[in-house]
Amino acid sequence: MYGATQLLLLGAALSQLSSAVPVEDSPRQRLLKGLPLPEKYRLGSSPPYTPGHRDRYDKAVDTVGEGIDPLPWRNGLGASVLGPWNKGRARQNPDMVRPPSTDHGNLGNMKWSFSDSHIRIEEGGWTRQTTVRELPSSSELAAVNMRLDAGVIRELHWHKEAEWAYVLEGEVRITAIDYEGGNYIDDLKKGDLWYFPSGVPHSLQGLSENGTEFLLVFDDGGFSEESTFILTDWFAHTPKSVISKNFNLDPEVFKHVPASEKYIFQGSKPGSIKDEQPDGKHVKKSKLKFSHSMLDQEPKKTSGGEVRITDSKNFPISKTVAAAHVIIEPGAIREMHWHPNADEWNFFIRGRARITIFAAEGQARTFNYMPGDVGIVPQNMGHFVENIGDEPLEMLEVFRADEFRDFSLFQWMGETPKRLVIDHLFAGDKEAGEKFWDRVHDAEKDEVTLPKGDGKDLDSSEL
Ligand SMILES: *[C@@H]1O[C@H](CO)[C@@H](O)[C@H](O)[C@H]1NC(C)=O
Repeated sequence: MYGATQLLLLGAALSQLSSAVPVEDSPRQRLLKGLPLPEKYRLGSSPPYTPGHRDRYDKAVDTVGEGIDPLPWRNGLGASVLGPWNKGRARQNPDMVRPPSTDHGNLGNMKWSFSDSHIRIEEGGWTRQTTVRELPSSSELAAVNMRLDAGVIRELHWHKEAEWAYVLEGEVRITAIDYEGGNYIDDLKKGDLWYFPSGVPHSLQGLSENGTEFLLVFDDGGFSEESTFILTDWFAHTPKSVISKNFNLDPEVFKHVPASEKYIFQGSKPGSIKDEQPDGKHVKKSKLKFSHSMLDQEPKKTSGGEVRITDSKNFPISKTVAAAHVIIEPGAIREMHWHPNADEWNFFIRGRARITIFAAEGQARTFNYMPGDVGIVPQNMGHFVENIGDEPLEMLEVFRADEFRDFSLFQWMGETPKRLVIDHLFAGDKEAGEKFWDRVHDAEKDEVTLPKGDGKDLDSSEL
């Protein structure tokens, strides 16, 4: 199976391995399991990012997973780097350092990493945001990543923008009241959502042993977590005589209310919802449902992963935010598609991705994403999401829209007369046209596609 030179080279590669490499993923184990070798151990062509490397198919390279540093060499063109060079960032952006040869034009930036956001540190928690100020293309939605330890409270507040949230880890108690004065209290876990329409006052509190971490998405890119209407802030900036009148109590009662906002602070441990449910004479429960278990939805199984869609059809209160939770298996691709009704706002939870955005007028630009990164794909621009790593890619696609909508290139082809399709793409090669038509003519939409034979190993060494 392997020639003598190859074994020699493999031996050399093995001896370079440090003990930190997990044994189950060693080159030897991969060979035994019949898996392809990581790029840097592959034989038969020059390694990627060297002058001799040729790749006419612009294949993705998992530079982070394989521990290689990308350099600006492409098909014999390019040069080494002499000046200052941020290796860490270069490694996270292999398709910036060496863009696919199909990239062209001046499409603006579509990536922000929460790691580049300022973190506001408070008692028992922290928060950081990605808004139009961090990422100018994020004009429709803004997001906050927040951590609350056990018992820690994001204090009672409201804001103009609607708030959609996804629980990343742990458990959280939410409280709110609706427009008719009905209250809502719920405990949420990983993979659950909440949605508070504009102006609805609410609070969040970390439960479980280590509290919670979640992602908040607001339906306006200009939102700022620093400018919300906070209960203690209002008390601190209202004359005590007025507070006294409002609550019909002696001003002395309010002598010790906080002099400024508390925002995030260590609270007391909550009891059960049943024990804490307000029970005054005029208290009533909301008839609305502000929360939803997204990950408990039965997913649509595709050939290369899973898709769960939550929008106003199955979570009626979520009128301005629609979302998809997508899992893309190694080697699979979220198929070429576009969204007709809103910009796509992506958040990456797990894995490594590459996305090329096609922006018309011959423009296309490729970006790479890792956990904690945010991506934008403007409305109607064609794109795909390729899992370039060796673990499942887990991501959220979020839209400022009432419903999730997308167009599949594959499906469109199959739903179009064969003659038209062939005239457009295969006029110069009818035989290839027949092969293409055989593939697409059933027009089956497969949102996450795993190519048969695993496209990873196309031989693209000869040019
Ligand atoms: C809570 O955090 C501690 C310290 O990081 C860890 O040892 C423990 O396993 C965590 N508990 C849970 C339930 O995740």
